[in-house]
Amino acid sequence: MKIAVFVSGRGSNLQAILDSQKEYKTVEVKAVISDKISCPAFQIADKYSLPAFSLGDKEGCTGYNELPGLLSKLEIEFIVLAGFLKLIPNEVIKRYSKKIINIHPALLPSFGGKGMYGMNVHKAVFESSAKVSGVTIHFVDETYDTGKIIAQRCVDISDVKSAEEIAERVLKAEHELLPYVVNKFAEGNVKFVDNRVMVF
Ligand code: GRF
Repeated sequence: MKIAVFVSGRGSNLQAILDSQKEYKTVEVKAVISDKISCPAFQIADKYSLPAFSLGDKEGCTGYNELPGLLSKLEIEFIVLAGFLKLIPNEVIKRYSKKIINIHPALLPSFGGKGMYGMNVHKAVFESSAKVSGVTIHFVDETYDTGKIIAQRCVDISDVKSAEEIAERVLKAEHELLPYVVNKFAEGNVKFVDNRVMVF
């Protein structure tokens, strides 16, 4: 399955997908796409000789209206948003219906929505005094964090002393769950049953 990974920062989930392919060999990362001109994830793309693209209206960038054409040209079959901070154009969401997923570092439908990204999420979870947090992988629709949930993993945070500690524990779970789910899609083992998403 030919995929594009959308990133905005560090790219550790991109790295986890690439690492997993030593074992799975089901996925080909055809492009790394960012809303930034440069970000640490591009260094990972560089290391693996993967084509990297910046979105926006600055010189050398691909315009958001050119994104559908770029994805077609690269023959992208599936999109993974791994820390991508911008909304994806509706045309792309429609075309990749049930073929575009996002990873969120908390248990949706709690602690999601606009502004809930990065440390904002973990700080809100810490402040709430919740005893579990976790990872959610969900389909992407027109609004932030509202698409159907595909997979979740809980993380015990009953003894944490800071939001940073939550982030660290959740990230570890992200690096396990995301490659697992992407591989399940590549194998055709994610299905809708009675309007629920099942991973077999
Ligand atoms: C991850 O916590 C992901 O869940 C969130 O943004 C972060 C991206 O981290 N959406 P990285 O760039 O993959 O290291």
